[in-house]
Amino acid sequence: MTKPTEQALEGLMEHAREAAQNAYAPYSKFRVGAALRLANGEIVTGANVENASYGLTICAERTALVRAVAEFGPEIRVAAVAVANLNGKPSPPCGACRQMLAEFALPDAPVRFPAAGGVRTMTFSEVLPAGFEFKLK
Ligand code: THU
Repeated sequence: MTKPTEQALEGLMEHAREAAQNAYAPYSKFRVGAALRLANGEIVTGANVENASYGLTICAERTALVRAVAEFGPEIRVAAVAVANLNGKPSPPCGACRQMLAEFALPDAPVRFPAAGGVRTMTFSEVLPAGFEFKLK
């Protein structure tokens, strides 16, 4: 799998922005969208879905991930991640989402997210350098 181009990452970010339109965030009003590019070339999106029992909320990144597995199966590999929000604020993926993504993300997969002053892009192994796993790869 070749590294996603700058153009591909821009496109993925646009998918994330569109996905954020479907966020269900009546409590925080913070609308997040995520888009995953899979190693098989497919793009899968997600949005955050909140709940009156706040802790049951699922983030956009995990929504996209569970959709990807449900649709394409357990062998998927995540080759790139884009996160967007409609609030003009920084929103790197939270720790829980990083840990969930770790099961499927390629270590060199770029992760692009809104940061102070613009977007920031890091590799997956940079955003989660020491995630939990049962055996060392
Ligand atoms: N949220 C995400 O969707 N992704 C993250 O990585 C962090 C936070 C959502 C959860 C909640 O609905 C809202 O943003 C405010 O925390």
